[in-house]
Amino acid sequence: MLKTVLLISGVFSALLFTGCDLDGKCGECDSSLTIDEQLTNIIKENALKGDPSIGLNIPSVEDPKAQLGMKLFYTKALGGDKDSACVTCHHPALGGGDKLSLSIGVESLEPDLLGEGRLYDPAASHYNNGYALVPRNAPSTYNVALFKRSLFWDGRVENVVEGNVTGIRTPDTAFGVIDDSAGANLAVAQARFPVTSHEEMKGFSFELNGDNNATRMHLALRLSDDTAADYIPNSWQDAFTPIYGANSITFANIVDAIGEYERSQLFVNSPWKKYVQGDKNAISEAAKRGAKLFFNSYGDGGMSCTTCHSGDFFTDESFHVMAVPQVGQGKNSNYEDFGRFNQTATDKYAFRTPTLLNVEMTGPWGHDGAYTTLEAMVRHMINPDEAIANYDFTQLDENVNTTNSTVNTQKALTQLQANKAFGISPHQNINATDEQVADLVAFLEALTDPCLKDRECIGKWIPENSSGPDGLQLNAVDKDGNLL
Ligand code: HEC
Ligand code: HEC
Repeated sequence: MLKTVLLISGVFSALLFTGCDLDGKCGECDSSLTIDEQLTNIIKENALKGDPSIGLNIPSVEDPKAQLGMKLFYTKALGGDKDSACVTCHHPALGGGDKLSLSIGVESLEPDLLGEGRLYDPAASHYNNGYALVPRNAPSTYNVALFKRSLFWDGRVENVVEGNVTGIRTPDTAFGVIDDSAGANLAVAQARFPVTSHEEMKGFSFELNGDNNATRMHLALRLSDDTAADYIPNSWQDAFTPIYGANSITFANIVDAIGEYERSQLFVNSPWKKYVQGDKNAISEAAKRGAKLFFNSYGDGGMSCTTCHSGDFFTDESFHVMAVPQVGQGKNSNYEDFGRFNQTATDKYAFRTPTLLNVEMTGPWGHDGAYTTLEAMVRHMINPDEAIANYDFTQLDENVNTTNSTVNTQKALTQLQANKAFGISPHQNINATDEQVADLVAFLEALTDPCLKDRECIGKWIPENSSGPDGLQLNAVDKDGNLL
């Protein structure tokens, strides 16, 4: 009898050791397999195709509507005080973001200077000691068409089902309630909001007493109604007519076109895609080792990253607490950011799992840009307790407010620890070697579409240097004055 027990426990520990499922489905167990064979199994088990855009209808940037949207994305005319455009924080040559931990929208010293070196105007009315007013990191607009469930770090623009009707809920409607004005898709619905945010585009004097819709209507009128007191002389209607017809400069059409331009930013042709689709030389050996760590579960000697960063788009589009250090203004009192909780009153400190496609290009990382190197961000994902204990505040720009950071970060970490204790979070801390970290980073770098490293290729999403239809096109420059 004793023998049988020992035998059984022996079998069990062997299973635990190799991490083999009983049906033998796992990438690691048979060490006689080459790394490519192991990854082939992993790819099969995860049903990966390499390309998350298969089956979706994604516009080309050459489409007339996307071309119109591009011009609108770059105009400061949509900023209340004409000093901020969408592109201020989402430039295609800056990773589809702004390369800042926290964005500076209105009241900057030089509105057309984007990225590093962008500063507040010390004479501005909301200078706030130079600290960024925008509480979160600007996510990339790359591949925005691939999100099926929600946009924003807290998913506050999201697809919902109400009875037997599906639609989009936005901050203009209560949680779970369809916004009938949301427009055709998530990107269009999202584009209705930056113009209503004081810190991002609206400023602190335009339509001060107006609600979101008054702000939107006013913006459309100052481009369409030449009797309006603040009419901006322009030729926009010429660009709208072929697409939307006569007298068509409405806010709904403005965001419809902007959404189409954003949705045309499809960048999925990574070396990893080639590898998944059969070219076994497309990625380095380090990236292959990193892929194994990424996809294999903890029991298989991996790091279970794919529990949350799942599928070809590398996100489950769900909300998880990962306790990324809390810096900046925050969205709640005392510089805290409750994340998804502000929408649902559950999931405190949870944020939407970001996609990892092109993640090499989209730093700083985390919902508030707390990490300014990809390696540090990866170390946090492997072991948040250790990363927080070693967090280096000197990586942040002076414009990032760190008041209460330590205590607020600890609160989120305590929540993560509780979630783990109650089995709500699948995360486990790992003591990784430097080589494992480097391998994971190498894998993440294999998720970059080479177009993004080629100014000519990315140039299709950047208009020619000009004044634009209203004389307010933002021709972005870097801190040395060079055009981006
Ligand atoms: C001042 C900087 C700033 C400006 C200007 C700005 N954004 Fe953003 N954008 C952000 C930040 C910060 C977030 C994240 C906010 C959050 O999640 O709470 C964001 C989020 C987004 C997202 C969601 C992406 C995702 O992965 O969920 C899209 C799309 C987007 N912005 C498009 C636009 C468009 C279109 C405009 C112009 C109408 C615009 N932005 C203007 C900073 C800016
Ligand atoms: C439990 C779910 C979960 C697991 C497991 C997980 N992540 Fe994440 N990851 C997230 C969430 C949520 C965020 C955003 C957190 C925030 O900003 O507050 C994130 C952010 C990131 C970012 C930053 C992306 C950006 O655009 O800012 C990287 C890189 C990353 N994760 C890589 C990994 C790697 C590598 C692993 C495995 C070692 C991993 N993650 C495991 C949920 C997870």
